[in-house]
Amino acid sequence: MKRKFGVGIIGLGGNGEAHLRAYQSNPFVEVRAVCDFSQEKVEKIKKKYGIKYGYTDYQILKRDDIQIISVNTPDSLHAEPFIKSLEAGKHTFVEKPMADNISGLKEMVKTTEKNPQLKTLVGHILRFNPLFIEIKRIIEKGILGKIFYLEGDYIHNLKGQADKERYDPKIKMNWYLEKELPMVGGGCHPLDVLRWFAQDEPIEVQAYSNRISFPEMKNDSSVVAIFKFKNGAIAKVTALYEPISPYAFANNITVYGTKGTILRDTICLNEKEGFKKIPAKYHPGHPYEPEVNHFIDCILKDKKSLIDAKEGARSAAVVITVSKALKEKRSIPIPEF
Ligand SMILES: NC(=O)c1ccc[n+]([C@@H]2O[C@H](COP(=O)([O-])OP(=O)(O)OC[C@H]3O[C@@H](n4cnc5c(N)ncnc54)[C@H](O)[C@@H]3O)[C@@H](O)[C@H]2O)c1
Repeated sequence: MKRKFGVGIIGLGGNGEAHLRAYQSNPFVEVRAVCDFSQEKVEKIKKKYGIKYGYTDYQILKRDDIQIISVNTPDSLHAEPFIKSLEAGKHTFVEKPMADNISGLKEMVKTTEKNPQLKTLVGHILRFNPLFIEIKRIIEKGILGKIFYLEGDYIHNLKGQADKERYDPKIKMNWYLEKELPMVGGGCHPLDVLRWFAQDEPIEVQAYSNRISFPEMKNDSSVVAIFKFKNGAIAKVTALYEPISPYAFANNITVYGTKGTILRDTICLNEKEGFKKIPAKYHPGHPYEPEVNHFIDCILKDKKSLIDAKEGARSAAVVITVSKALKEKRSIPIPEF
């Protein structure tokens, strides 16, 4: 067998650990080093997963035996490690949302353009869900006809994020409570899928929000946004961080086309016959393994990834613009990437 690629993980919260496990199940790579501001987390993860090297700074990027980096820092802190990783010559997987501001996105995309030989992937994990892969196939075959309306939700009770243990002494905050924007951190998931399904770009957004039932959050915890696409389609995305409700099944994804309608995991092509089950299973959790396997495959076969930095920037730019629409209380054009 050929020599394995070396992987380094930056950011060792729950998601960094989930990435680590997914890489460890791929036969073409080996996780060689981990990095977090917290020495305690570094030591814990090294021991738990048998990782040889640990860092509390970007020295991890100087290692010649690492070709792939996964960035799992908080949403507002993706840009710096992503840019440094590419500048150090590493293929880089960054979690969603790619960034929480437009200037960060621009810098990130510029760095990828300077390093076209390096692969990037943005962690829009719903694109690796078997149900959504099947819906995409149905749409691409033209079965729904011309799409004119789409909906998607991120409805998730995240009150646990207010736990005292989530306070991070290094950045002196609980970033979920202080910085999290539900449409950016959560709504980016359904929004990205809707962009993928619509096969077109949202060009304008309006939005409303409130902070009635999760007052510990600094930003509004319930947001609804409506979008207009270039081709005339329209869409609605809702992000709620405090419902008394389980996670929304299949993100309540709905797609209306001129020949048919998709409602979560069902399809209707004829009103009299009604909705029938789509032959693919919704994965209720996080399919990290297929996501990581896709990234490794793109590196091995020199292929563009499904959500490279430019594609990830397009989704992030849309949800970032929602915040602007909320602040300015008007519809706002979405910047192009
Ligand atoms: N794809 C998904 O479905 C999904 C699910 C959960 C989380 N996420 C994303 O994953 C990312 C991480 O989420 P989490 O819940 O694990 O966060 P977390 O706050 O639990 O962990 C982040 C870690 O990053 C460390 N860190 C911050 N800046 C750093 C830096 N520059 N260098 C090294 N370490 C640094 C912090 O010390 C912390 O341990 C977020 O962007 C989140 O939105 C994605």
